Amino acid sequence: MAESNTDTKSSNQMWGGRFASGPDAIMEEINASIGFDKKLFAQDIRGSVAHATMLAHQGIISSDDKDKIVHGLNTILSEIESGNFEFSRRLEDIHMNIEARLATLIGPAAGRLHTARSRNDQVALDFRLWVKEELQKTERMLTGLIAAFLDRAEEHAESVMPGFTHLQTAQPVTFGHHCMAYVEMFGRDRSRVRHAIEHLDESPIGAAALAGTGYPIDRHMTARALGFREPTRNSIDTVSDRDFAIEFLSIAAIAGMHLSRLAEEIVIWSTPQFGFVRLSDAFSTGSSIMPQKKNPDAAELVRAKTGRINGSLIALLTIMKGLPLAYSKDMQEDKEQVFDAAESLELAIAAMTGMVRDMTVNTARMKAAAGSGFSTATDLADWLVREAGLPFRDAHHVTGRAVALAESKGCDLAELPLPDLQAIHSAITDKVYDVLTVEASVASRKSFGGTAPSEVRKQIAFWRARN
Ligand code: ARG
Repeated sequence: MAESNTDTKSSNQMWGGRFASGPDAIMEEINASIGFDKKLFAQDIRGSVAHATMLAHQGIISSDDKDKIVHGLNTILSEIESGNFEFSRRLEDIHMNIEARLATLIGPAAGRLHTARSRNDQVALDFRLWVKEELQKTERMLTGLIAAFLDRAEEHAESVMPGFTHLQTAQPVTFGHHCMAYVEMFGRDRSRVRHAIEHLDESPIGAAALAGTGYPIDRHMTARALGFREPTRNSIDTVSDRDFAIEFLSIAAIAGMHLSRLAEEIVIWSTPQFGFVRLSDAFSTGSSIMPQKKNPDAAELVRAKTGRINGSLIALLTIMKGLPLAYSKDMQEDKEQVFDAAESLELAIAAMTGMVRDMTVNTARMKAAAGSGFSTATDLADWLVREAGLPFRDAHHVTGRAVALAESKGCDLAELPLPDLQAIHSAITDKVYDVLTVEASVASRKSFGGTAPSEVRKQIAFWRARN
C-alpha cells in the first residue's frame, strides 16, 4: 500500500496532473486523432465498402465475407449517424474505431477487410474524399455569392459612387461596376476550386503502406466506385502527398483575403461618415451603452476569420516541409487545420452573401460623394485634349489650376464660372460643363471593362451566361 502511494506521488510529480498515470496516458493523448478524425466516418465507410467489394470481385476474399463486411459497415454508419456509436480514444483513430466495432458485429470476417491496404492509403483516401466534397460545397457557395453580386450590380448599373485609389476620391464609377469587381474576384476563386477538384480527382486506395501490394487488386475499380477519375500513379507519393489539403487551404486563404477586403469596405461604407450602405439588423448589433450605434460585427468577424485561415495554411505547409517520403505521423496534424479553415470559409461566404443581399444602398449619399473631391478633373483634362487639341500633360497642368481655383473658392469644378475657366485657358467653352457631371463622366468610360453602365451591363450578361 505504502509503496503504491509513493508510486502515484512520484509519477504525479514527474508527469503532472492530467498525466498522473504516466507514459501510457501521455502516449494516448498525443497519438489519438479520434477527437477530430471522427468527422471522416462516412468517407471511411464508403472507402471500406468499395475496397471490400473489389477484394471479393478479385477473389481475394469470399463474397460471403464481403456481404458480412458491407452489412456490418452499414450498421456502423447508422449507429454513428444516430449518435449511438461509442468512440474510444484507446482505439486511436476513426479507422481503428470502425474496424474494432466491425469485429464485434460480424466476428472474424472483419479481419479480412484490411487485406491489401494500410491505414496510410486509407487515411489518404478518406481525407481526399472529404476535401473533394468540401471543394464542391465551396463551389456552390461561391456561385451563390456571385449571384448576389450580379443582382446588386444589375440594380445599380447606373448608380454613381466615388471610385478610390489610396482611399482618396479618384474618379466616379458606378456601384454596379464596383460590385462586378467582386464578381471577377470570386469568379477566380471558383475557377481555382474547380481546378483543385480536377487535381485531387485520383484515388489513393491500393497504394497500401507505401509500396503497393502483392494481392491482385483492381485500383481502377475502386477509383470508379468512389467517383474518382483514375487511381494515383505512384504509391510512395500517394501516401505522402497532402497537396490536395494545402491547395484547399491556399484557395481558402485567397478567397478569405477577398472576403476580408469586402468586409473592410462594408465596415467603411457603413460608418456614418460614409453612409453608403446600411446593414440589415440581421448582420449588425447594437451597442449596450451607445444607443445610436449599429456595429458591423459580422463583417468584422469575416475579416478576422481570414487570419485563422491564413494560420491554417502556414501550419500545414510547415508541418509538411521537412518530412521525408513517405508517410510520417506528423501528417495526422493535417486534418484540424483543414476542418477549421473549412468552417471559417463557409461561415464567411454565407455571412457576406447575406450582407450583400440585405444591405440598403444609399445612392444619394454615394452620388453626392462621387461629385466631391474634384472627381471629374480627369474628364476636364480629357475634354481639353479632345476638343482643344492640347497634349495630355498640358491639359493635366491646366486642370490642376482649375482645381486649385475651385478649392480656393470652396466650390466644385462644375460650379466655376466660364470666365474663370477661360482665364485659365482660352480654348474652354461652355460645352465643357457637359463632361463635368458625374453621370457624364461614367457614361463616357465605355472602354472594354470600363465603368459606363452600358459596359457594366455587358459584363453582367457575360457572367450570367458563364454560371
Ligand atoms: N490517424 C492517422 C492519420 O491521421 C492514420 C494513419 C496512421 N498510419 C500509421 N502508419 N500509423 O494520419
